[in-house]
Amino acid sequence: MKRVDDFRLRFGEREIVPIMIGGMGVDISTAELALEAARLGGIGHISDAMLPTVSDRRYETDFVKTKLQQYKYNIDNADKAEVKFDLGHIAEATRLHVSKTMEAKRGEGMVFINCMEKLTMNAPKETLRVRMQEAMSAGIDGITLAAGLHLGSFALMEDHPRFRDVKLGIIVSSLRALQLFLRKNARMNRLPDYIVVEGPLAGGHLGFGMDWAQYDLRTIVNEIVQYLRTEQLNIPVIAAGGIFTGSDAVSFLEEGVAAVQVATRFTVSQECGLPDDVKQEYFKASESDIEVNGTSPTGYPMRMLKNSPGIGSGIRPGCESYGYLLDSDGKCSYIDAYNREVALHPEAKKVQVFDKTCLCTHMRNFKIWTCGHYTYRLKDTTTRDAAGHYQILTAEHIFHDYQFSTDNRVALPG
Ligand SMILES: Cc1cc2nc3c(=O)[nH]c(=O)nc-3n(C[C@H](O)[C@H](O)[C@H](O)COP(=O)(O)O)c2cc1C
Repeated sequence: MKRVDDFRLRFGEREIVPIMIGGMGVDISTAELALEAARLGGIGHISDAMLPTVSDRRYETDFVKTKLQQYKYNIDNADKAEVKFDLGHIAEATRLHVSKTMEAKRGEGMVFINCMEKLTMNAPKETLRVRMQEAMSAGIDGITLAAGLHLGSFALMEDHPRFRDVKLGIIVSSLRALQLFLRKNARMNRLPDYIVVEGPLAGGHLGFGMDWAQYDLRTIVNEIVQYLRTEQLNIPVIAAGGIFTGSDAVSFLEEGVAAVQVATRFTVSQECGLPDDVKQEYFKASESDIEVNGTSPTGYPMRMLKNSPGIGSGIRPGCESYGYLLDSDGKCSYIDAYNREVALHPEAKKVQVFDKTCLCTHMRNFKIWTCGHYTYRLKDTTTRDAAGHYQILTAEHIFHDYQFSTDNRVALPG
């Protein structure tokens, strides 16, 4: 019986344990978690979502306060077009987070950064360019292009001296999206180094519509593996979404994928950025406590725990402090939803908004509990004490369980 450890992900001469921990914004996949994956010979991700606020929390900078001071005058204005990011600040926050993480890296593995195109930041191209370019300058091993088609992202990096040496990958949820990406980037003469195929059971935003349940990871992976073979494109495929045990991973590796990307199991690790009481909520969840809904202003369906405190919360839009989801016209669908409720309830001190959520503020404060479909199985991966608390696991324990387990078993902590 094979184990994940019988396989290796190959990047040229380099051999990597084929376990990649996926990016989880906002600082849920911390530097500490990513560094553990690298130390153990796999790949970990930090996330570049909302790095100025992450930097304030981790490195005592003042990016959010400075931005709020600059745009305070606009707080009651529904039009956020003027609320622009300072590109220098984005660069500095990215440089700090990436360089501090890379300096601490030990072991044979790698640390990548997850870069979401849907963080349009009121100037999509300019901000994305700075985020990706600075990550490369600060020494990141790889960039995973996520949450979007990224048709122009390679072009935004093309002039960087590391463009051909840093590992670049893209997350897709269909063969069509991959074909589109390859076609648009054909003139670049630079293929992606890996392709993450993410199915409908993943956490975070989904690359499907609300009909996500009709899709199946294995079918999409097989289509893409076949396509790459036919086209004689030798690009490692990495399967993601609902791979819960080492045996699940082996079943994909045996079908020709080069590695798996996993996340949900690590949400209850010590190194994960979620607060401990939120980790207990993840452990406690049953299947009926998890839903895919349309509350994210990005327009993509998102999976989360139904009891996330951010659902229904009608807080004032926090764009002057954050504003990561403002499109190129300074618009976000939460602002419209919030103003609609305020207009409907002119007397109310506080309104409730259920159709959209202020995702920046609530992800920043860990109040939207996004999670993978199999979160309800996390309780089976640990022990519970007499007071009813589930034992938080080390990332090493979970990583090794993926790497060495067989027979669909999950090793409990010692
Ligand atoms: C809490 C959480 C947050 C996530 N955030 C992001 C994100 O910011 N960007 C992204 O591309 N994927 C995100 N994902 C998706 C993961 O990186 C990963 O591809 C997927 O969840 C793997 O499936 P699994 O959770 O069933 O193992 C997130 C997943 C979870 C569980």
